[in-house]
Amino acid sequence: MNKKIIIITGATSGIGKALVAHFADENIVYAGYRNPDYERDLKKISNNVRPFFIDMEKDFIIDGAAVFIKREVEKIDLLINVAGCVAAGAMENMSTDKLRKQFDVNTFSHLRFTQKLLDKLVGGRVINISSMSSFGIFPFVAPYCASKRALDILFNSLEIETNHKIKVISVKPGVIATPLWEKSIEANQDSINGDTAYNKEMLYMVKNAKSNGINGLPVEKVVSLISKAAFCSNPKSSYTVGWDAKFAEIISKLPQDLINWLIDLGLKRKGLR
Ligand SMILES: NC(=O)c1ccc[n+]([C@@H]2O[C@H](COP(=O)([O-])OP(=O)(O)OC[C@H]3O[C@@H](n4cnc5c(N)ncnc54)[C@H](OP(=O)(O)O)[C@@H]3O)[C@@H](O)[C@H]2O)c1
Repeated sequence: MNKKIIIITGATSGIGKALVAHFADENIVYAGYRNPDYERDLKKISNNVRPFFIDMEKDFIIDGAAVFIKREVEKIDLLINVAGCVAAGAMENMSTDKLRKQFDVNTFSHLRFTQKLLDKLVGGRVINISSMSSFGIFPFVAPYCASKRALDILFNSLEIETNHKIKVISVKPGVIATPLWEKSIEANQDSINGDTAYNKEMLYMVKNAKSNGINGLPVEKVVSLISKAAFCSNPKSSYTVGWDAKFAEIISKLPQDLINWLIDLGLKRKGLR
């Protein structure tokens, strides 16, 4: 049987790294890294892993990565857009630079990379690691929620506009235990230390992130769902992973005023109002 060609960004940690290990057993996996220290680790996973450099904040590097891959392969069976980061903080003080970076990494980079690979993807699938945050009900991480919602909207449109030449699948995990949570504390020190009016809220966010990084679902839950959605005959356009993501989906269908009332209630219960 011919090995399938799979491209995965954000392959050096958490969900992406677990996906590389899973798919490299039987397929050729092009695995994207931004930190060259991880290149050797990726190669060690299997002879089927072909690491490539990609920095989701730099258009010319994204373009270069796409050129490299297109030179190597005839056709791409599956592109999994995984790379991501979290911008958190209160909207009152949120800098537009920080917002822009969030959208660059979580949204625009994936669209650009996919656009550049599109001709090789015809007949194949794109799986985006979105988030339950795409349902858009989490205060103090609004940039992250908006970037994931935008990702889903832009790619859904891409599939329809191209007359379904590619199948786009959005995977929306709830809380998964990965290094993302610790990294989010590091990356948001400006808000944690600078948003003095929201000190209590920021401390709560840090506590929550620490707990999520330990108590979240294991990455295997996401890998197991993606391994089914990747090559099944009739995949859905959207999947949730975990009860929290399912719950967020249900809540998102309520009228906005009711959603806001529930969020206020949640904040009160946590002593944040
Ligand atoms: N963990 C969760 O609870 C959760 C829930 C829902 C959705 N997600 C989404 O799942 C995806 C994977 O996250 P994870 O939890 O596995 O986090 P992770 O362990 O931090 O992995 C994120 C990956 O993205 C890479 N990355 C980040 N910024 C990048 C950039 N500018 N250029 C290139 N690569 C970059 C990271 O590279 P480095 O190794 O160099 O940092 C890493 O390989 C993300 O899109 C995240 O939003 C996560």
